[in-house]
Amino acid sequence: MNSQRQSPLYRSRLLQPGADRSPDTHPLTWRLRDDGQVVGLKEYESKEGYRAVSQVLNGHDPGAVIAAMKEANVRGRGGAGFSAGLKWSLTLQGDDIPRGYIVCNADEMEPGTFKDRLLMEQQPHLLIEGMILAAFANNARYGYIFLRGEYVESARVLTAALAEAREAGWLGPDIAGSSFDFDIALHTGAGRYICGEETALLNSLEGHRANPRAKPPFPGQSGAWGKPTVVNNVETLCNVPAVMLRGAEWYQGLSGDRTDDGGTKLYGASGLVNRPGLWELPIGTTGRELLELAGGLREGRKLKAWLPGGASTGFLLPEHLDLPLDFDTVGKEGSRLGTGLITVVTEDQSMVALMRNLEEFFARESCGWCTPCRDGLPWTVKLLLALERGEGEAGDVELLDKLAADCGPGLTFCAHAPGAAMPLQTALRHFRREFEQGVRYPRGKAHADPIPAGGV
Ligand SMILES: Cc1cc2nc3c(=O)[nH]c(=O)nc-3n(C[C@H](O)[C@H](O)[C@H](O)COP(=O)(O)O)c2cc1C
Ligand code: SF4
Repeated sequence: MNSQRQSPLYRSRLLQPGADRSPDTHPLTWRLRDDGQVVGLKEYESKEGYRAVSQVLNGHDPGAVIAAMKEANVRGRGGAGFSAGLKWSLTLQGDDIPRGYIVCNADEMEPGTFKDRLLMEQQPHLLIEGMILAAFANNARYGYIFLRGEYVESARVLTAALAEAREAGWLGPDIAGSSFDFDIALHTGAGRYICGEETALLNSLEGHRANPRAKPPFPGQSGAWGKPTVVNNVETLCNVPAVMLRGAEWYQGLSGDRTDDGGTKLYGASGLVNRPGLWELPIGTTGRELLELAGGLREGRKLKAWLPGGASTGFLLPEHLDLPLDFDTVGKEGSRLGTGLITVVTEDQSMVALMRNLEEFFARESCGWCTPCRDGLPWTVKLLLALERGEGEAGDVELLDKLAADCGPGLTFCAHAPGAAMPLQTALRHFRREFEQGVRYPRGKAHADPIPAGGV
C-alpha cells in the first residue's frame, strides 16, 4: 500500500466513510469505497461503469451528446464555469476537418484545491469513460490527461487503469463494438501553475515553454498541433457518463431549487477547520453548510473571511455564508466560485501576512510574458513584506491598489494576473486598516528601489 494513502492527513481529505451516497444523488462519488482503495475495472463495470459508452457509441449521434450536455447545463469545474455543452458545440467538426484531441486538465495546482486528485486516485475509470464520451461528441481521435507532476499516486493509478481499459476494449479501435476508435495517453507536467491555463497547457504538451497563447483562435478551432482540441477539467469530464445515462433533466434536478446551475459539485473546506475534507453536494450548497460538515472552526477561533474556491478567488465575509455557492451568485459578490473548495481565515490570522504568502506564489508562478504580472507581482510582494514587518511607507497601500488594478481583466495575456489581483483587491477593500497599520515611514524613506532586481 502506498504510504501517502496511509497518512491520517491524506485520509482526512477523503469523503466521509459510510456517508449515504446513491447513484441517484451522487453521480461523482456513489461508487467510491469506504476503504479509500481504487475502484478497479471489474468493480466499476459492475456498478454501471462504461454502460453510457456502450449505449451512446451504439445508439446516439455526437450532436445528441452535445445537446444533452447543454440541456444539463454542466458548467466547467476548472474554475471559469463555461458551459461544457456550448464549448463542445463550437469545436470544429466535418469531413474535411482532421480529428483532434480531448485534453483533460489535471494540473490542479490552485492552492486549497484537492478535488480532482480524489477522482483520479480512486475512480480513474469514471474519468476515462467521460473522456471517451467527450471524444465521441467532438470527433476526437486521441486524448491526453495533463497531470500535475507531483501527483505521483494519481499517475500510478491512471497508468494502470488506462492499461486495463485498453485490454478490455474500452480504448483502442472499435470501442464497444462500434466503429469509433479513441485512445488516451497520460502526460505528466513539470509542476507549474501556469500549465493549468488551457493554452499554456497545450504549449507545454507540445514540448514548448508554457506561455499562454493568443485567443482567438480558441482551442476548439486550433488547439494541440493545430487541430481542434477540447480542454476540460477532470470533474467536468467525470459528470458526462451520468448525464448520458440518467438524462439532462435528472441532472438539472440534482441542485433542486438552490440555483439554475445543474448537478452536484465536489465542494471542500480547508484552513483552521476541525475536519478538512471534500463532499459531493448539490450545486448551490452554502458556505455555512460546508463549515458545518467540516466540523466548524477550530476551538476558540472566529471567522474573519473565506475564499470560496482557491487562492485566485476574492475574499467573502461571514455575512456571505448563506449564499448559494454557484457560479453566478458568487460572481455577483465580486468573487468567483473557482474550484468550490473554501479556505477559511480566522480573526487571529493576519491578512497582510496571508496576502504576502499568496502573492509570493503568484509572483513565482508568473510566466513572465506581460509586464503587470512579471514586474507588478514581485513589487506587490515587496510592499506586502514591508507592511507585514511594520516598515511600510506612506502611499504603499495606494500603490498596492494600483498594482492590483493594473493586473485586472483584459490588461494581461491570460487570467493569471487577474487571479492574483482578486484576493488582494478584496482584502484591501474589506481589511484596509490592517494594511495601513504597517505604514511607519513617510513617503520615499523606506524602500527607494521598488522593483527588486531578479524578482522575489
Ligand atoms: C493560471 C491558471 C491556472 C489554471 N489552472 C487550472 C487547473 O489546474 N485545472 C483546470 O481544470 N483549469 C485550470 N485553469 C482553467 C483553464 O484555463 C480552463 O478554463 C479549464 O481547464 C477548462 O475546463 P472546464 O471548462 O472543464 O472548467 C487555469 C486557468 C488559469 C488562468
Ligand atoms: S498574465 Fe502573467 S502568467 Fe499570464 S501570460 Fe501574462 S505574464 Fe504570463
